[in-house]
Amino acid sequence: MPDTILRAMSQPHGSPPGTRAGLVVAVDGPASSGKSTVGSGVAEALGYRFVDTGLLYRGVTWLAQQLRTPLDVGESVAELAPRVSLRAGPEGRYESVLVDGMDVTDEVLSPGVDRRVSEVARHPEVRSALLGRQRELAEGGDIVVAGRDIGTVVLPHADVKVFLDASPEERARRRAEQRGFAPDSPEATAILGDLRRRDEIDRTRATAPLRPAPDALRVATDGHGLEETIDLVADAVRAERDRRAGASVEPEPAVEPEPAVEPEPAVEPEPAVEPEPTAKTKRAPVARTSPRRESTAEPRLSDRITPFMQLSDLVGRTIMNATTRVHIEGLERPLDIEGPLLVVSNHASNADGPLLVCWLTPALGRRMHLLGKQEAMDRPLLGWALAQNGVIGVRRGAADLEAFRAAKRVLDEGHVLGAFPEGTRSPDGCLQPAKDGAAILALRTGAPILPVGLSGTHRFWPRGKRLFRPGGQVRMRVGTPFTLPRTSGGDRRRAQAEATRLIMTKIAELLPPSQRGVYAAEVDRVRGE
Ligand code: DC
Repeated sequence: MPDTILRAMSQPHGSPPGTRAGLVVAVDGPASSGKSTVGSGVAEALGYRFVDTGLLYRGVTWLAQQLRTPLDVGESVAELAPRVSLRAGPEGRYESVLVDGMDVTDEVLSPGVDRRVSEVARHPEVRSALLGRQRELAEGGDIVVAGRDIGTVVLPHADVKVFLDASPEERARRRAEQRGFAPDSPEATAILGDLRRRDEIDRTRATAPLRPAPDALRVATDGHGLEETIDLVADAVRAERDRRAGASVEPEPAVEPEPAVEPEPAVEPEPAVEPEPTAKTKRAPVARTSPRRESTAEPRLSDRITPFMQLSDLVGRTIMNATTRVHIEGLERPLDIEGPLLVVSNHASNADGPLLVCWLTPALGRRMHLLGKQEAMDRPLLGWALAQNGVIGVRRGAADLEAFRAAKRVLDEGHVLGAFPEGTRSPDGCLQPAKDGAAILALRTGAPILPVGLSGTHRFWPRGKRLFRPGGQVRMRVGTPFTLPRTSGGDRRRAQAEATRLIMTKIAELLPPSQRGVYAAEVDRVRGE
């Protein structure tokens, strides 16, 4: 590859943070992962411009085909790049492709271009020729830029990076459905084959291959709805905007649920269906009205306490009772709570999950769902035991989204969910600032919240230790269920932050003063009123 190209491509262009007026949002992902739909939906929600950079590669491909330029000669194809441009509509969406000023949008979306564009996009000369153009479009910010290498190469300083993904089968299924083909038709099979081939080329090309930026928010869109992915990404952008504006707003929510396994933080919910071209039509219509929801085909969750759970709880209680003094308060009477329930607790130890589950399950008379790392669920014996205990596996990478979705589903179906709002174990047993995940879940589902304070667990099984230390005592204080006050309109983030503070104060009240940490003053304030 010529030196100049290498240099041009390795320079970390895209203005560094702080030198732009508005934010730049990079949305990358494979074909039919929902980039244009989600990207343009987010742009619309935020009043940003939107550009799908794939259109540039398509324009060059189409022109090369018209001129019979050999597609395998990068330099020749790259020479055509200056003749291709994008034109924005009144809403700031660059949705028209011009070649020498002539509108060829429909042509570049044709299956003929579909089939060959990856071959063109793999040439470093072509990528280099289009690089400056893409960066110019992003200048000034307030733009969502969709593509394959936006977060990694084109705009490495993008303020928010998102990587959308879905299995090839799911993407092919969507595309076939959009084009009106039955799932098992030869056309659907051909679409899957074509997608796989294009993925392979995009992912393995030497220059700017398709891959997530390390700092990208990864969103798996299998089986999810469009509106929620748009909300998720738009919220991430708003949080970043608030952060930059110096507002003291939490970035993104996290829920940490789960027992002995170290769980995953959770953000928000649900992604995308890609509508898109019927053979050759409009690209990425912004389906703002009643988007098609994927049928998830997931069986409904159960809240039955199985004999295995009873046995596990008994074993857990026996081990803990034999190794430390366990004080339980607030379970003198059965917890007669029906419907969804969000159990929230402080988190300082690996003992917290088992403590909650082993004592609360019999008291509630139904199972408590916790989220666990999929890696743990994949381990032969442990995974089986966790699954038998109602733990729901959440894959890493897409964990934030998946965890939130899984957690919300538990509550939507009327079950009990356990969550640690701090998102991770406290190193010293004192409350740390919590994320908004638990509050968002409660606000969105209206579920009652049961606060629990766990004290002494950080000494029984300190963070960083492989095993617990027999001796000492642990205490679990179960509080009174409460619901969050209803909010209507107003600043959503502020409402979430308020709700988080309320939840954490309720937990702090159940802890000894030495463990109330950053919420100690709040307890004093509430008690002083
Ligand atoms: O998103 P799309 O299907 O319209 O993209 C067309 C092709 O362009 C696809 O093969 C990947 C390539 N592309 C790229 O390599 N880099 C980009 N930033 C955008 C698209």
